[in-house]
Amino acid sequence: MAKLMKRKELEQHLQDLDGFTKPKILLEQYETRAHIAACMLHTIESSYGDLSQKRVLDLGCGCSVLGIGSALLGATYVLGVDIDEEALQISTSNINQFELSEVDLVQCDVRSLPQLLSETSKFDTVVMNPPFGTKHNKGLDSLFVEIGLQCLSDKGVLYSLHKTSTRDHFHRKAPGWKVEARVLAQLRYDLPATYKFHSKSSVDIEVDFWRFLKK
Ligand SMILES: C[S@@+](CC[C@H](N)C(=O)[O-])C[C@H]1O[C@@H](n2cnc3c(N)ncnc32)[C@H](O)[C@@H]1O
Repeated sequence: MAKLMKRKELEQHLQDLDGFTKPKILLEQYETRAHIAACMLHTIESSYGDLSQKRVLDLGCGCSVLGIGSALLGATYVLGVDIDEEALQISTSNINQFELSEVDLVQCDVRSLPQLLSETSKFDTVVMNPPFGTKHNKGLDSLFVEIGLQCLSDKGVLYSLHKTSTRDHFHRKAPGWKVEARVLAQLRYDLPATYKFHSKSSVDIEVDFWRFLKK
């Protein structure tokens, strides 16, 4: 078995990736910072072995920080899916920078993804930092999880970030989704001042790092 890359080394690689050039507020575009992405992915691999030798789906991939990190930790295949063409252009350049032939991209609304997948093309692991489902996108955070779960094979597992304020909501949803749901960590997410209405240079919000395991 290949040696697991150190978390710090992974973070340094992810720091080199390009982020959104013109983030779109309606799509809730803000990238996962390198240190949070590295923390998430390193935990997924070191504690659960859910990346190496796995088929991984990066849902709402944006500039593909999570997908590229998954490939660097040994995923055999990664598919990044996003609705936004410009985000996927940045992803393509990021993927080329690392010469990763195992990462593919598809442009589509997550809502149409399950119909595009056959049983044999399902995934072992889903990683995502979906829209928080605020303002115009109410409920989109839950919808991303539901769709991610539909794209998993039996016993597949989904990792996601959600606002801590929605923790009770996800605990209530879990039995209906037939998953074992666990908050692995509570993180402070420094949302950069991406949009004009943010007056401070960055805003800290509490975010839960979740693991949803299909029963
Ligand atoms: C919070 S950003 C996260 C980006 C990336 N996963 C990361 O961790 O840096 C959410 C992403 O979801 C994408 N998105 C929003 N609505 C979507 C939809 N309906 N279908 C597919 N992608 C969507 C946005 O374009 C954006 O790239």
